[in-house]
Amino acid sequence: TAITVLMIIFAYLGGSVSSAVLISRLYLLPDPRRHGSGNPGATNVLRTGNRSAAAWVLLLDIFKGTLPVYLAWFLDISPLYLALIGMAACLGHMFPLFFHFKGGKGVATALGTLLPLGMDMAGLLLLSWLLSLGLFGYSSLASIITALLAPLYVYFIKPEYTLAVALLSCLIVLRHHQNISRLYHHEEKRLLHKLKKPG
Ligand code: G3P
Repeated sequence: TAITVLMIIFAYLGGSVSSAVLISRLYLLPDPRRHGSGNPGATNVLRTGNRSAAAWVLLLDIFKGTLPVYLAWFLDISPLYLALIGMAACLGHMFPLFFHFKGGKGVATALGTLLPLGMDMAGLLLLSWLLSLGLFGYSSLASIITALLAPLYVYFIKPEYTLAVALLSCLIVLRHHQNISRLYHHEEKRLLHKLKKPG
């Protein structure tokens, strides 16, 4: 229906708003697309050392995913279209209309789209990410591991969304191809070391 199509467009446009670029401008930080890993995301904004800017980016990127899915759920839109709306938000973040289609990796926004599935899903994803970060120290690897586990979790919690989440996970892993190559060559920067004071 018209509402569903409008919601898909709204989700894509909302996803297209790059929190990392806008918050960095607001905080007078370097453009995340030309700094660190070059990725407009919370991890890369954190590399400037500004934790509050990074926290805002994380929250807003999550919100871009949660808002359209939650609204659609509230409007009683069917699971298939709910999944499309979630995908649209993530695709907006990855290929933003307003930023020459050069966006981020979609981790925070994907998490946002999955939050309405419930606290068990949210808890499993957050725990997987934090445990992987604690074990290995790399934000990218934590995101990749969590993306790979997400379809399994959703299969047990809300099986009707397994295919959509699996597709999203594939996209997220593909978006990390440069990180994967850096990890393979031992060139990826650890996030946890960054948080410690030098010396
Ligand atoms: O979620 C993004 C993270 O997985 C990797 O970010 O800046 O290290 O490429 P970055």
